[in-house]
Amino acid sequence: MNILILGSGGREHSLAWAVMQNPKCDKLIVAPGNAGIAQIADCAAIDINDGGTVVQFAERNNIDFVIVGPEAPLAAGVADRLREAGVLVFGPSKAAAALEASKAFTKEICDACGAPTAAYGHFTDAVAAKAYVQQQGAPIVVKADGLAAGKGVIIAETVAEAEAAIDDMFGGEFGAAGAEVVIEEFMRGEEASFFILCDGENVLPIGTAQDHKRVGDGDTGPNTGGMGAYSPAPVLTDEIAERALAEIVRPTMAEMAKRGMPYQGVLYAGLMIENGLPRLVEYNVRFGDPECQALMMRLGGQAFDLIHAAAEGRLSEMRVNWAEDHALTVVMAAAGYPGDCEKGSVIGGLDALAEDSSHMVFHAGTALRDGQVVASGGRVLGVTARGDTLAQARDRAYAMVDAVDWPEGFCRRDIGWRALT
Ligand code: AMP
Ligand code: GLY
Repeated sequence: MNILILGSGGREHSLAWAVMQNPKCDKLIVAPGNAGIAQIADCAAIDINDGGTVVQFAERNNIDFVIVGPEAPLAAGVADRLREAGVLVFGPSKAAAALEASKAFTKEICDACGAPTAAYGHFTDAVAAKAYVQQQGAPIVVKADGLAAGKGVIIAETVAEAEAAIDDMFGGEFGAAGAEVVIEEFMRGEEASFFILCDGENVLPIGTAQDHKRVGDGDTGPNTGGMGAYSPAPVLTDEIAERALAEIVRPTMAEMAKRGMPYQGVLYAGLMIENGLPRLVEYNVRFGDPECQALMMRLGGQAFDLIHAAAEGRLSEMRVNWAEDHALTVVMAAAGYPGDCEKGSVIGGLDALAEDSSHMVFHAGTALRDGQVVASGGRVLGVTARGDTLAQARDRAYAMVDAVDWPEGFCRRDIGWRALT
């Protein structure tokens, strides 16, 4: 099969790595890809958010199957365009991608299907939003409705902070994403991510993970896209996962189908778990990054069969072969991340690292310059290892981190702490 993966991060490198291990893959192209992906697949610099361009590229390259990595092309309807052109694709339609692209839509779906989530109000003007905040009190969570690159969520400790966030959002700080605002009850508990493949009708859980969103050790400093992850997440026990499927995921899928927008792709459910009860924080319509890197390390080549079956509507035939293993990813980022960071610093030591089914350095923001790997973004490497225990996976990952020669980079030294202490 000729396969095209859309995206350029650690998520897409790990997906490409898993696909390449599956004998069904004859040719793999990743668009646009990065320096690490270029070592295992062809890369093509095309505009992946333009449906016409992607369809044309797929047709010219005899692509049989497209796997969409990030949310932007999904929200732009690229999966719809591919389906219209008769190309098999993994990823939801533009309509179904509203589960990530609109927080108000997700809340409405939860209401309709009875999925447990935070109480909320949905507003299109600041006066009504502030009145709601005054009535509810703090802490309270203020969210821009649309896609804001992970930045449109303010956890306000005081009513004044919430009011300022409301003014910022309606004042245009998050552009069109903030034209509508969702205000939510602050949920306590421990967060975990649950990844479920969906084929429009059937669901198949493929793993759990925990992310580390803050930039600094001990969960300090500003929020990031994710500084590290591990899988499985011990807080998401089998019993809680079963409950989340029964009370949240399956009802959501049934509601989407009922509305004529069946969901096909991976559903990433962010859950808050308190006293053994899961509640939905948010849905994403793609794999999490770096969570995907830890998941792919555990699933290996079977990940491709599962993803392919989801796209073909055959999930009911599939089973996941679980190993009793653990995987952990440490993100190495460029100094300054998540703010502005310098590009172009040289990353050494990568060639000397032995990569195998338990040790991989997935690339995110990297490029090749004069034969050398250089940093080209904020999150740069996802150093990922697998082990029989989480402690072993962590020790292996940090041993690799220590062998990377990149003075301009940094990482958190405590990935996995919640599950290890
Ligand atoms: P979201 O983009 O909706 O996932 O929000 C980003 C982060 O904000 C989540 O991962 C949570 O850590 C936090 N968060 C969002 N909504 C809530 C909530 N209602 N209660 C507590 N924390 C929340
Ligand atoms: N790691 C969080 C995300 O991918 O949204």
